[in-house]
Amino acid sequence: MRNSLIIKNLSFKYEESHNLIFDKIDIVISKGEFVCILGPSGCGKSTLLNIIAGFIKHQHGSIERADKVSMVFQKNNLFPWKTALKNITLALSAQGLNQEESCKKARHYLKQVDLEGHQHKYPFQLSLGMQQRVGIARAFSQESELLLMDEPFGSLDAQTRYKMQQLLLEIRKKELVTIVFVTHDIDEAILLADRIILLSNSSGTIKEEIVINKKKEIEGPVIMDRSQFIEIRNKIFKLLI
Ligand SMILES: Nc1ncnc2c1ncn2[C@@H]1O[C@H](COP(=O)(O)OP(=O)(O)OP(=O)(O)O)[C@@H](O)[C@H]1O
Ligand SMILES: [Mg+2]
Repeated sequence: MRNSLIIKNLSFKYEESHNLIFDKIDIVISKGEFVCILGPSGCGKSTLLNIIAGFIKHQHGSIERADKVSMVFQKNNLFPWKTALKNITLALSAQGLNQEESCKKARHYLKQVDLEGHQHKYPFQLSLGMQQRVGIARAFSQESELLLMDEPFGSLDAQTRYKMQQLLLEIRKKELVTIVFVTHDIDEAILLADRIILLSNSSGTIKEEIVINKKKEIEGPVIMDRSQFIEIRNKIFKLLI
C-alpha cells in the first residue's frame, strides 16, 4: 500500500452523546509522512487516534491502515506492576521476539529516551515525564509502520522535549515510519510535521490542512527559516481562535 492510512467518510459519535465528533471526514496519509493534528481541547484528537488504532469502533465510513501500528497514549498506560523494562518486553514478546531479543531492544530504546539505569524501576518510582518516556520507548521499540502519538511530549520539560523531538526526527530519517502526532503546541507541529491537519471545534470536520513545504529539507528544529515559521504560526493561530 502506498499510503499508511486512508480514512473515508468517517462519522463518529459516542453512544451517550447527541453530537457527532466526526462528520464525514476524509484523511489520507502516505507512507513515511509526518502529520500533526491540532485542534482545541475536546474537539476529538484523542478519539481520532483511538479510532485509527481500533480501540474505538466508528459507526460510519471506512479505515484502511498499515497492519503494524503502535501508540503513545496521552495519559501513559503502563502496567503498574511491571518495571520499565518489562513494560516494553511484554509488548515485544507479544510480537514473537524471544526474551533475549526483546530485552536487548527494550534496553536500546530506554537508552534512547535517557532512561538507562532506570530500567528496573516500577512506574510509581518514576516521574510523570519518565513514565511518558517509557511509553515512547515502548512505541518506538515496536518499529511499526504507523506510529500514533497523542501529545507524547506534553509532560516533559523543555530540554527533554527538545531531545525527544530530535530523537523522533532521527528515527524517522532512519526508518520508513508514518507518524500521526497530536499536539497543542503550534511551534512543535510546525517544526515536526510535513503536514498539519486542523480539526474544528464543534462541526466535526477538518478546518484546514497546511502543508509545511520546507520540512523535507531541514535537519532539525533549529535551522528553519524564521519568517516562514512566523507566517505559518500566525496563520494557524488565527484559525484556532
Ligand atoms: N469515552 C467517552 N465517552 C463519551 N464521551 C467522550 C469519551 N471520551 C471523550 N469523550 C468526549 O468526546 C469529545 C472529544 O474528546 P477527546 O478526548 O477526543 O478530545 P481531545 O481533542 O483529545 O481533547 P484534549 O486536547 O483535551 O486531549 C469531548 O467532548 C469528550 O468529552
Ligand atoms: Mg486528547
